[in-house]
Amino acid sequence: MEQKGHIKKYKIGVVGAGHVGLVAAACFAELGHRVICVDNDAGKINSLKKLIMPFYEPELEPLVRKNIKKGILTFSSSLDETIKAAQVIFIAVGTPPQPDGSADLTAIENVAQAVARNLDSYKIVIEKSTVPVQTGQKVKETIYRYRKSNVDFDVASNPEFLREGKAVYDFFYPDRIVLGVESPRAEKILKEIYSSLKAPMVITDINTAELIKHASNSFLAAKISFINAVSRICDLAGADVEKVSLAMGLDKRIGAQFLNAGVGYGGFCFPKDVEAFIYISKKLGYEFGFLKEVKRINDEQRRYFVEKIKEHLWIIKGKKIAVLGLSFKPDTDDMRFAPSVDIVEAFLKEGAYVRVYDPKAKKEAGELFRGKRVEFAGNPYRAVKGCDCVCFLTEWEEFKKLDFKKIKVLTRYHLIADGRNMLDAQKLTKMGFEYIGMGR
Ligand code: UDX
Repeated sequence: MEQKGHIKKYKIGVVGAGHVGLVAAACFAELGHRVICVDNDAGKINSLKKLIMPFYEPELEPLVRKNIKKGILTFSSSLDETIKAAQVIFIAVGTPPQPDGSADLTAIENVAQAVARNLDSYKIVIEKSTVPVQTGQKVKETIYRYRKSNVDFDVASNPEFLREGKAVYDFFYPDRIVLGVESPRAEKILKEIYSSLKAPMVITDINTAELIKHASNSFLAAKISFINAVSRICDLAGADVEKVSLAMGLDKRIGAQFLNAGVGYGGFCFPKDVEAFIYISKKLGYEFGFLKEVKRINDEQRRYFVEKIKEHLWIIKGKKIAVLGLSFKPDTDDMRFAPSVDIVEAFLKEGAYVRVYDPKAKKEAGELFRGKRVEFAGNPYRAVKGCDCVCFLTEWEEFKKLDFKKIKVLTRYHLIADGRNMLDAQKLTKMGFEYIGMGR
């Protein structure tokens, strides 16, 4: 992205080199700010210094390379040094889910403590990764409690809405920028940081900014579960959910996106964020039953998919099943909470032989399925050879271009289970495949 005109440049520290942190660090550098990205995983930082990306994200690597070369983006494993050097500190550390659904905020507190230790001039600390509402308050209290002098600081919230696989694009072309601030100074700095992006800004208090993130992600998850519930009724009534989605989506009040029925949502955001919102709401005194149902419907889609295959194959034990697509969605190698994990496990439990293929997630999936009866194939055709059923669980573009004539020759039984409603059902049926869709 080319910069036009003059924008005020800041010295920014980004804490956390995960998906949110690394993308933000590279993109802030691209906007012209000086950025130090810090992570306590020294191995990750060393790899980044050698230009090895810790995960696959389109467009990210060239941006990192370019800005390292320019000397505008640097990496460090020292939190204290990074905080000392930066005026603006974005917190993008992980907030992993705990068994009760709450988020583990130890890493956030650790950053707040480090800011308190190193507060030698005014600094602004901004939450970027998803945190429970009222976390900003806690960060502020922690810095007050542990700071050694009366140096001024601000805490702010700037939730990140980027999607994996489209993260760089989403950073530069966001639908909105949400700024939760408590002082005109904090507002001015954040506005200046983003001044070259053209997006509506929503300026609000910190609690509201935090809540906007919970509400947005949970609403999108709810939209998916809604259409998945409708897809179940379509199956029962003999209707086509694809047409239902199309017609619903043409209503501008509803919108066409996030109405694809299938095996449901996965990834590190929706499952975790829905759980966290249920937990936080309860803690605040509201039982969010609606969201519990969103989660239940999503979990059930995975079981339902396996049930449908069972109906066709009768006995799964001893059958060969090919799974094409493992990552939780296309254009990422992320396997966290991917529907494929539960579905492959269910096949294994039933005694099937499972052969899998994914264009990017082989390494991640290899770690997850290590020691299990899962065979990895180097290409889709190898995966389907001799199989009784071919499942599609991620809508990678390359799967839409597969030679299904060849697949018909290679498979033992011609059953296709399309967990993403991504294939032409009519064409496949005409070719002699049995086709299983989700609500169509
Ligand atoms: C999501 C939010 O979109 C993003 O704003 C937030 O910052 C992080 O969480 P991400 O997890 O990258 O982003 O994935 P997204 O593209 O939103 O998809 C989430 C899941 O929903 C995927 O598993 C996808 O396959 C599924 N999905 C999406 C559906 O099942 N149906 C749909 O119609 C859309």
